[in-house]
Amino acid sequence: MERVKTGIEGLDRILGGGVPRGSSVLVTGGTGTGKTTVSMQFLMEGLLNGEGCLLVTCEEEPHRLYMEMKQLGWDFEKFEKEGKLVVIDAASTKAGMPTTTTYRDFQPKSANIDMNLVVLIGRAIREYNVKRVVLDSVPALALRVGKPEALRELLFRVYSMLERFECTSFVVTETLEGEGSLSRYGVEEFLSSGVIKVSLQKEGGKWIRKMQVVKMRGTRHDLNEHVFEITEGGIKLKD
Ligand SMILES: Nc1ncnc2c1ncn2[C@@H]1O[C@H](COP(=O)(O)OP(=O)(O)OP(=O)(O)O)[C@@H](O)[C@H]1O
Ligand SMILES: [Mg+2]
Repeated sequence: MERVKTGIEGLDRILGGGVPRGSSVLVTGGTGTGKTTVSMQFLMEGLLNGEGCLLVTCEEEPHRLYMEMKQLGWDFEKFEKEGKLVVIDAASTKAGMPTTTTYRDFQPKSANIDMNLVVLIGRAIREYNVKRVVLDSVPALALRVGKPEALRELLFRVYSMLERFECTSFVVTETLEGEGSLSRYGVEEFLSSGVIKVSLQKEGGKWIRKMQVVKMRGTRHDLNEHVFEITEGGIKLKD
């Protein structure tokens, strides 16, 4: 089976070389646990290997995200300018501000974002020969969609699109505090072929970051939680 490297060395190791090509992986966890960083590192790995990459950002505006990622040593803006990274900016429009992305064509109108978004994703994938996709995040998207049924329908269509074009994707969602569920809306984990959970845990009076591959269809993987750090250069697993 063909594998796609996530670019996070320790994660690729516990996955036995990477995620199966065409997987849709849910990156889930509480606030500030590193969900965006995990996903962006996966995207950067694709960019560094010349793959067409698509970022659907619903939460943070591209320029903010680029700034934060620069601190970790990744220049996403450069790849966007070179036309290798295509960005659907669904965050700026949320605040009614003009988008900073050069792909204005890919800026969804705030009215009926649901219909637009699926069409835009399909167009971006075809026009830029996209192989890797990051969507950050489902809860931010949900804010714009309204009804839970509409969100379910939208997610279903987005996932079908990703599958049709055999994209490997990381989709960010959130776990609710103090609950056993893996995702905010309870549908994301069923649509996904894999789930990676990140968390902050207190051990011996100190807070540490942990990562666990909860599921990954089509491959054996380590089920244990692994301690990791966010440093310049990205995420590093410590064991
Ligand atoms: N340059 C950096 N070096 C080390 N750690 C950093 C750096 N930048 C951010 N961090 C850490 O990473 C955390 C945020 O990571 P990230 O944005 O990936 O989390 P997230 O789960 O997406 O958060 P949110 O719930 O806000 O979307 C910060 O709270 C901080 O602790
Ligand atoms: Mg985030």
